[in-house]
Amino acid sequence: MTSGDSAASPGAEVVSRRVRIQSAIATAPAPAPDRNGASVPIVNRPTVFDVRGVSVYYGAKKALAPFSMKIYRNLVTALIGPSGCGKTTFLRSLNRMNDSVPSFRLEGEVLYHGHDVYGQGVNRVEVRRRIGMVFQKPNPFPKSIYDNIAWAPRNLGLKEDLDERVERALRDAALWDEVKDRLRDPALGLSGGQQQRLCIARAIAVEPDVLLLDEPASALDPISTLSIEELMHELKPRYTLVIVTHNMQQAARVADRTAFFSLDDDRVGTLIEYDETETMFMRPVDPRTRDYVTGRFG
Ligand SMILES: Nc1ncnc2c1ncn2[C@@H]1O[C@H](COP(=O)(O)OP(=O)(O)OP(=O)(O)O)[C@@H](O)[C@H]1O
Ligand SMILES: [Mg+2]
Repeated sequence: MTSGDSAASPGAEVVSRRVRIQSAIATAPAPAPDRNGASVPIVNRPTVFDVRGVSVYYGAKKALAPFSMKIYRNLVTALIGPSGCGKTTFLRSLNRMNDSVPSFRLEGEVLYHGHDVYGQGVNRVEVRRRIGMVFQKPNPFPKSIYDNIAWAPRNLGLKEDLDERVERALRDAALWDEVKDRLRDPALGLSGGQQQRLCIARAIAVEPDVLLLDEPASALDPISTLSIEELMHELKPRYTLVIVTHNMQQAARVADRTAFFSLDDDRVGTLIEYDETETMFMRPVDPRTRDYVTGRFG
């Protein structure tokens, strides 16, 4: 390559990044089987969220311009894009976590299995039970490991067979073997990676349908990050997962579908492109997606 070519061709760093992402895609497990064990083409999967013409404001400031997208069952859907483009805002809109922000306002419809999440008479506690959330920074309660997991079931009156429920959640979160002999010890004594798996166990202890994860591995070391990614693959046959990540490798490794948001000229978050992850990374339609996933921007 001559130096004159370099403006039009991707630089070496971009190429090597693309190769890494390509190999991440090549080594990613095949699409999740559905609940009957058969592999189902993505377009035929049941829709969990049907987001219709949604825009979001904080006071007078528009955070997300109107967009529509569907999120499908038993898949991992990644939300990517530069800081401030509204990924967290959108994720938290899916289970009404933003209701506690007084200036928050959503227009359009978020349909969850056909029901308007923001409809009149919707029980917010029930919404959050079905649609669980895991945050960027592990946030165990200052309680024992056991009581962290038992907290939400107890609150919901699910007190029967609590020991079994706690064990199941910890097993499902791939943490049981590491903590089974210290269930009464403080959760805050666990490592960061263990704390994050504990938070995932806490979220799945009430058997939700969906797990929303906002940069769940960004505070973790590479080994703990991989264990969270493996866990997502294991959870996929039983849950629908939506993950925000700044890590392109991670999106390529874990996500079946990826949505790229960016900021328009007025710094309003905008959905640019949404497709199967492989298409997003290897054959994106929009040049802004290509620039972002190859690391030329953002
Ligand atoms: N509680 C809030 N009140 C007012 N504005 C907010 C609030 N939360 C977010 N915003 C604004 O909404 C926009 C989108 O923020 P958001 O946190 O959703 O972005 P993000 O894509 O998750 O960014 P990051 O990658 O940095 O986490 C930003 O301009 C942000 O300042
Ligand atoms: Mg965020």
